[in-house]
Amino acid sequence: MKTIDELLAEPVAGRRVFVRADLNVPLDGTTITDDGRIRAVLPTVKALAEAGARVVVASHLGRPKGAPDPAFSLAPAAARLGELLGADVAFATDTVGESATATVAGLTDGQVAVVENLRFNAGETSKDDAERGAFADQLAALADVYVGDGFGAVHRGHASVFDLPARLPHYAGYLIATEVGVLRKLTDDVQRPYVVALGGAKVSDKLAVIDQLLGKADRILIGGGMAYTFLKAKGYEVGSSLLQEDQLDAVTEYLERAKKTGVELVLPVDAVVAPAFPDLKSKAPADATSVAADAMPTGQMGLDIGPESATLYASKIADAATVFWNGPMGVFEHPDFAEGTKAVAQALLDSDAFTVVGGGDSAAAVRILGFDENAFGHISTGGGASLEYLEGKTLPGLAALED
Ligand code: 3PG
Repeated sequence: MKTIDELLAEPVAGRRVFVRADLNVPLDGTTITDDGRIRAVLPTVKALAEAGARVVVASHLGRPKGAPDPAFSLAPAAARLGELLGADVAFATDTVGESATATVAGLTDGQVAVVENLRFNAGETSKDDAERGAFADQLAALADVYVGDGFGAVHRGHASVFDLPARLPHYAGYLIATEVGVLRKLTDDVQRPYVVALGGAKVSDKLAVIDQLLGKADRILIGGGMAYTFLKAKGYEVGSSLLQEDQLDAVTEYLERAKKTGVELVLPVDAVVAPAFPDLKSKAPADATSVAADAMPTGQMGLDIGPESATLYASKIADAATVFWNGPMGVFEHPDFAEGTKAVAQALLDSDAFTVVGGGDSAAAVRILGFDENAFGHISTGGGASLEYLEGKTLPGLAALED
């Protein structure tokens, strides 16, 4: 994989460089609630601009349906990129149309433009190779060189991620190079004990990674909504908690395999429950109580790991040499259910291990709960991408940068 350093060793002044970023940031209306992904691509954009390139930044945001939708505009992200760069950033109100063509043509050396959401075009995510290819051709017309730096999207075989690099000289940006370097440390010659904390709502999203990790990790700590499917598989009642009945067989098999292979698969011993899902806007008290995991009352919903589980999980992390954490332990957006996630984040900070926070919600949780993100070994910008990497899958966006 050629990196941006090789590109910067050549004269780039005046060349149009297309940077495929992941500016898919959480928004409350038009307010960005976590700008981590924008900050993560700054080193690449800055280096190119300082070298005099004409930088065209493109990204998806959310999942619009292949047509313009103002709710998913990249305008707030472009404005924030400008603030962080301390420079004017031009914004094209379409992706490959008149506005984009004129905006790119108007760039001077060292200037940066952002084009509108890639997913406003059906060709970006199309399953049809020809339709995706036609869109990639239009994107290719905007640039002379491609830099892939949208790590959060490298698991998508989309036009801007997979088809476009084949049409232009291509390089990996600093973010992708860093992310891949860190994930390699988890897959090749990992330092042990290797502890993985997995949370998040749905066990079905994590099955493939659990399957892989059962052969690699020393301990797997389970939290979040998916813990209740594990508890049910153990024979416990889980009240009205999130439960994926169709995953019970798979989860039962994992529990058995963990026993056979000596991997510690650690489940919550208690839970914080409430009668209903809390109001995340008002954050009104949710009538929460802590109960033992084998005594969850009917009509109560588990929304966080309980205090004993938090202590247990922290002790399982304390002597680790490597920790990978993906997915919050509970509904951390509400104060009544944030303690489990806080405890795991704090345990990562307290340990001497190499700690990796695996993107998405857990990365947002770290920042929203006020932790110093620089104190973690690495906070990935890609939740799905880092999980698929650990699953051992070929990621289209990395494969496309290889040759
Ligand atoms: C993410 O948020 O994980 C990335 O931006 C990818 O987004 P997607 O899941 O909508 O493809």
